[in-house]
Amino acid sequence: MLKQGLFITFEGTEGAGKSTLIGELGKLLSAAGHSVVVTREPGGSGVAEKIRGVILHEAMDPWTEAFLYEAARAEHLAKTIQPALKKNSIVLCDRFTDSTLAYQGHARGLNWKTLRSLNKIATGGLTPKVTVFVDIDPAQGLKSAQDPNRFEAEGVAFQTRVRQGFLKIIREEPKRFIKIKARSGTPVEMAETLLKLLRKRVKI
Ligand code: TYD
Repeated sequence: MLKQGLFITFEGTEGAGKSTLIGELGKLLSAAGHSVVVTREPGGSGVAEKIRGVILHEAMDPWTEAFLYEAARAEHLAKTIQPALKKNSIVLCDRFTDSTLAYQGHARGLNWKTLRSLNKIATGGLTPKVTVFVDIDPAQGLKSAQDPNRFEAEGVAFQTRVRQGFLKIIREEPKRFIKIKARSGTPVEMAETLLKLLRKRVKI
């Protein structure tokens, strides 16, 4: 058990295998005696999951989309993330503020600085201690997407812009990121490698 909470986020384009990796890492951390909370965006709490249902299935104005992600995020923070961090848990979150910059910012073309401000308002300034970027070739990632949501349906050009958006954030904040290659081993092997990399950054 840690003396204070630890917030780790996971980012990437579609089909990178983030959720499987998060699941395996969660098992390793639990086996090491930590309290682990696995969650996701958009969603991760009652109201936020309802907002998720709206965002992922209906086309809308890009700013409406951005505000809905931020609204879901504020709720997720208040109901799930902050309470878990207060209990000294390790929170593993599938997507967070960087997805807004990469998808709504770089890929949809909304103003980067404004989105950074909105992220700050929605999170009260909470930033992840570490962000794991799982990198995959966008075309390869899309091939594995079953039942595509409307972002996946936009195709390779869109996913390529999303990926470039993530790389831009990594250039802006290199210290926060661990970059790993998708499918560079079995999920268990990748989780073990990731845990070693995390242990170089944080005491866990
Ligand atoms: P999901 O099915 O959870 O995709 P994935 O498994 O790839 O995480 O759908 C979430 C979608 O929402 C995904 O396409 C990325 C998008 N998204 C944004 O566009 N902005 C955001 O701020 C977040 C959190 C997600």
